[in-house]
Amino acid sequence: MSHPTNLPAWQALQKNFEQTRNEHMREMFEKDPARAERYWLEVGGVHVDFSKNRINDTILANLVDLAKQSGLQERMQQMFNGEKINQTENRAVLHVALRNRSNRPIKVDGQDVMPEVNSVLKRMGEFAHAVRSGEWLGYTNQVITDVVNIGIGGSDLGPYMMCTALEDFGHPRLNMHFVSNVDGAQLRDTLEKVHPETTLFIIASKTFTTQETLTNAQTARKWFLKEGSEKDIAKHFVAVSTNKKAVAEFGIDTDHMFEFWDWVGGRYSLWSAIGLPIMLYLSEENFIEMLEGAHEMDNHFINTPLEKNLPALLGLVGIWYINFYGGGSQVIAPYDQHLHRLPRFIQQLDMESNGKQVQMDGTPVQTETGPIIWGETGINGQHAFFQLLHQGTHVTPIDLIASLEKRSNLPGHHEILLSNVFAQAEAFMRGKTPEEARAELQAQGVSADRIDALVSHKTFSGNRPTNMILLDRLNPRNLGSLIAMYEHKVFTQGVVWGINSFDQWGVELGKQLAKTILAELTNTIDPQKHDTSTSRLIRLYRQVNCAEDGTCDLLK
Ligand code: F6P
Repeated sequence: MSHPTNLPAWQALQKNFEQTRNEHMREMFEKDPARAERYWLEVGGVHVDFSKNRINDTILANLVDLAKQSGLQERMQQMFNGEKINQTENRAVLHVALRNRSNRPIKVDGQDVMPEVNSVLKRMGEFAHAVRSGEWLGYTNQVITDVVNIGIGGSDLGPYMMCTALEDFGHPRLNMHFVSNVDGAQLRDTLEKVHPETTLFIIASKTFTTQETLTNAQTARKWFLKEGSEKDIAKHFVAVSTNKKAVAEFGIDTDHMFEFWDWVGGRYSLWSAIGLPIMLYLSEENFIEMLEGAHEMDNHFINTPLEKNLPALLGLVGIWYINFYGGGSQVIAPYDQHLHRLPRFIQQLDMESNGKQVQMDGTPVQTETGPIIWGETGINGQHAFFQLLHQGTHVTPIDLIASLEKRSNLPGHHEILLSNVFAQAEAFMRGKTPEEARAELQAQGVSADRIDALVSHKTFSGNRPTNMILLDRLNPRNLGSLIAMYEHKVFTQGVVWGINSFDQWGVELGKQLAKTILAELTNTIDPQKHDTSTSRLIRLYRQVNCAEDGTCDLLK
């Protein structure tokens, strides 16, 4: 497989980099004020100003050429047509089918997947309606008040993020809980807040083999059976999975299972039955709105020339920093309290997709790949880690995300919030020159000696890239579009790097080793050969948790 570094566009970009690396965005804006208008795209209710990036028309044209020479458009067609582009798992990648509101046939192995997609969506809708309306009753004929989603990774992060983000649309009777950690503290804390008679558990696992989820699910089941009986389980436990057999073995009637398919990646699954908590909380109509928003972004992505293609351009501008500036991290900073889980969601989406070291054909990559994604609500970040973003030594692109419409009717709050996000973008771009810092200190009457000592500390280099991502308002449709935008951004980057964005073999080794270590911690096998550090850790654990006769806290 050829490496992106061998493509003519890559070499052209390398030259662009040498020529422009010392140019400052301040001057770019002064010379070309129209860039604010040119580097601005809107799709549905999502507006993106990407003008505060270290780019110009030539760089953008070469980035678009890079995408073309990497075969992005062909790969997009293959994904949307259900071809098995996840080669290492021999699977299609069809989260776009889950929100294919046009209902055009999409075939996998000659079979249209849409009838099944629609049928599961219909069942989810019926179930959500029954729970929300109070028609679905618990074993003592009480309505459901609490929903506990037990899942991890993609079976947790998406629904959790969406339910948190769209809380304003949530059903007033339903309290949503998300349990992912196998640390018993999380499940215990949750169970203390709920009652078996009024709680619905959703056991969400694509594979239904994930140790953390199954352990939590078993414990929840035992807790339930202290008050309810086996036959009551049907009213309080449902499963979401691709693995019918394992669901049945666990003891959940497969009539109470909502299915999805191996062509839905875990981190791309919130649009599938994994989104059941979202539908329960927000309603079927709002879930469909979310799908509509994503579909609008899908249509934009597949139909728009790359020069005006929002997810593709965001991906390409990201590559510009990662591969040419050596900026290996990316901050997600939502200026919205309800979006506080968004950075974590995008972290899995991006890092599990593009954290790869070999190309499709198994040969090592020759460039950096996926960035380290991190972040927090922007306003809190300003008072914590933004110092490094302004004056540290790294080039860290930042996505600033906010909604234009007021988020509460509390006077003054939204204006302060939005003035901050706009000001941060301006500050990151402009910086403050030593002359400006000096003039400011002089105006404050600071002594000459003190000014000399302070000027360099009060200087901001600026020239730090941001994307300003504004939603008309935070609603299911716009959030659907936003998430789909990030999915396609990640896809674009993966295609340019020639990697498989849809497998995740890197998570396996730890899981494998943990099996042996678990047997050692519980004394069910003799100590195994490890490095001395690992052996010492195991011994220490056993000293604390095992009795002298060698009996340990066994998993019961
Ligand atoms: O271990 C990583 C992973 O496989 C993720 O890719 C996935 O989202 C998560 O675990 C949960 O998997 P499952 O839904 O099969 O329980």
